[in-house]
Amino acid sequence: MESIKVFAPATVANVVCGFDILGFAVNEPGDELIMEMTSKPGVNIISIEGDEGKLPLDPSKNTVSASVISLLKKLEREDVGLNIKLKKKMPMGSGLGSSSASAVAGLFAANELLGKPLSKMELLPFAMEGEALACGHGHADNVAPALFGGFTLIKSYEPLEVIALPVPKLYCALLYPHVDVPTRDARQIIRSKVLLKDAVIQWGNIAGLISSLYTQDYELLGRCMKDVIIEPIRSILIPEFDRMKEMAMGNGALGFGISGSGPTVFSLFRSPEEAQKSLQEMKKMLATLGIESNIYLSEINEKGPVVC
Ligand code: HSE
Repeated sequence: MESIKVFAPATVANVVCGFDILGFAVNEPGDELIMEMTSKPGVNIISIEGDEGKLPLDPSKNTVSASVISLLKKLEREDVGLNIKLKKKMPMGSGLGSSSASAVAGLFAANELLGKPLSKMELLPFAMEGEALACGHGHADNVAPALFGGFTLIKSYEPLEVIALPVPKLYCALLYPHVDVPTRDARQIIRSKVLLKDAVIQWGNIAGLISSLYTQDYELLGRCMKDVIIEPIRSILIPEFDRMKEMAMGNGALGFGISGSGPTVFSLFRSPEEAQKSLQEMKKMLATLGIESNIYLSEINEKGPVVC
């Protein structure tokens, strides 16, 4: 195989209560990438579409190429030449795991072209390196679901252990308001110390959420989508956060919260019609305030990256 085209999905990290440990993938949006093997050793970014010229083309600075370079080094295959064309089909800095989708697409494509020398679990640390390059911290709650698909739990970082959770048959409504909230900044504003009373509430919600996935008790899932530690601080950066929450819940959402570090917000619904209605209402309300937004409605993606 000389060339491959792949798609990797966007992800919702944290899932409200599980900061840095929970995440799931969605069917759309996502990134597309074409990778071609060449005779000249080295990894090159040939083109990037859809990034408004914001992403670096320098292979050592770009998330995709840098993680692929690390992979080739580890495999002792620096003799390989790879040309990359990236099509960003999702907003960047949106809280939808944009850098993760790109890094996962690149690593998945390179691994396929090389005859699948590594498992997905073995690819994960390279994707985390890409994440660290993009936002200064190598958390795995976007890259793991982007890579494995489905709903994932990062049980521990040292050693790295990921658990695939049951995937709820629900609809995820995503709204990305066009405001700037870089992950790096959104991580800096949160407190590094947590009150024990808040930790107790958070533990209960995380445990309840995990349990709800196994029992398919989606009312419980919604009741556990509460965050007393991060959301109260980060939601200040998102315009009309409380009003959007009220609108989503009023339209039948099971739960509502920030996707990753924001500004995208997400809600989970049983019915796609209710999800669509809620998205339209929120979009319209933001438009009256002069804030543009993108909306997406998707089931939870179970596949992760695919050849397309
Ligand atoms: N867990 C990370 C955070 C996800 O909330 O900062 C970043 O998208």
